[in-house]
Amino acid sequence: MNKIFLNLGLQPLANEYRKRPINLSMKRGQLYNLKVCFNTKTKLVSISKRIPSEKMFNSKYPYRSSMSKTMQSSFKKLSNKIKKKFNPDLLMEIGSNDGALIKNFIKSKVIGVEPCKNLAKITKNKGYITYDKYWDFKLASKIKKKFKSVDMIYSANTLTHINDLKNVFTSINHLLSNNGVLIIEDPSLLECIKKNSYDQFYNEHIYLFSAIAVKNLLNRFKLEIFDLENLPTHGGSLRYFIKRKSNNKFKISNRVNIQINIEKIHGLNKLITYKKFSINVLKSKKKLLQILNKIKKDKKKIIGYGATAKAVTVLNYCNINRNLISNFTDTTPEKINNYMPGKDIKILKYNKNILQSYHYAFLGAWNFKKEIINKEKKFIKNGLKFITHIPFPKFID
Ligand code: TYD
Repeated sequence: MNKIFLNLGLQPLANEYRKRPINLSMKRGQLYNLKVCFNTKTKLVSISKRIPSEKMFNSKYPYRSSMSKTMQSSFKKLSNKIKKKFNPDLLMEIGSNDGALIKNFIKSKVIGVEPCKNLAKITKNKGYITYDKYWDFKLASKIKKKFKSVDMIYSANTLTHINDLKNVFTSINHLLSNNGVLIIEDPSLLECIKKNSYDQFYNEHIYLFSAIAVKNLLNRFKLEIFDLENLPTHGGSLRYFIKRKSNNKFKISNRVNIQINIEKIHGLNKLITYKKFSINVLKSKKKLLQILNKIKKDKKKIIGYGATAKAVTVLNYCNINRNLISNFTDTTPEKINNYMPGKDIKILKYNKNILQSYHYAFLGAWNFKKEIINKEKKFIKNGLKFITHIPFPKFID
């Protein structure tokens, strides 16, 4: 039974950056009401309205995994671990993006699946086998015909973006070899609750996984988690190592039960936890607006740092416009000179002096706090102050 616990108001598609700040409307399908629910039976947290994949993941998709050093080094580390521990003959990545992971492997040993054609082109041009198609049973069958089976499937920040999880896992089951390993990683619901990071919810993030919910889900497909890792990426993620129940090659690590128990201690299996979370979200909104309004009153200027999808949720939920945050800055070519979705705030191309004209920077990419603070030390020394809303709105010391 799905119970709504959070209403984040009218939101645009988070990655639809526009050349002009136009008035969006619900009627024209440009805005939708973002509500988040908890399934009391499966314990799965999801958003209530599902946007068709084609509207979100197409040839204009602006997100690139290689844009941050943090993500590049996370993929590099994982690639080394995969080679050492599993040494797969053939690895397939679902959502290979611009190749941040597969580039660490020999071309004959990896397959990329990436439906956003602009991104698939990048890896294709470098000579990597890339299917520019959505992950589904039809594609799994096509790949199976050609390669027979795949002994490792990896997917980061992708499966939670696909509405039909039954199709996702049936297709994985179809292609994965008997002793094969599936690795998935996605933002952790526990970290989201702990950090009050309501901005993890937007149209693309259909689901926010907990180990409890993933365990329940996999059970339906005769799959199980045999190991887990907590990662700092995307504000706190979980990496699940998954095998067939029939595969006895890997022992189930204690880490799996430890994680599930911690999640239970934090009440992730209970609706009341989510109701409390929604009260904290409202408090967070009030506090952030208080901070921004005070800065405006003092006639000081704020820039948003990192035009993230997460920031889009914050801006639209808190109704923050140009009068509060003058501009955003970002390094992603597809975002530059466009406007923050739903708002009149222009995204400026990042350059190393951009912060010079501002007194404050709102950390849109709070998940890269360390990397960014380190990069901008000079400005902080000269008086620039960073503002974050995670875990609660404040200035960063
Ligand atoms: P991310 O937080 O991964 O995305 P989302 O919330 O959209 O899933 O995106 C980080 C964004 O921040 C990305 O657009 C690149 C940008 N960025 C910078 O502009 N400068 C930086 O130094 C870093 C680390 C990120």
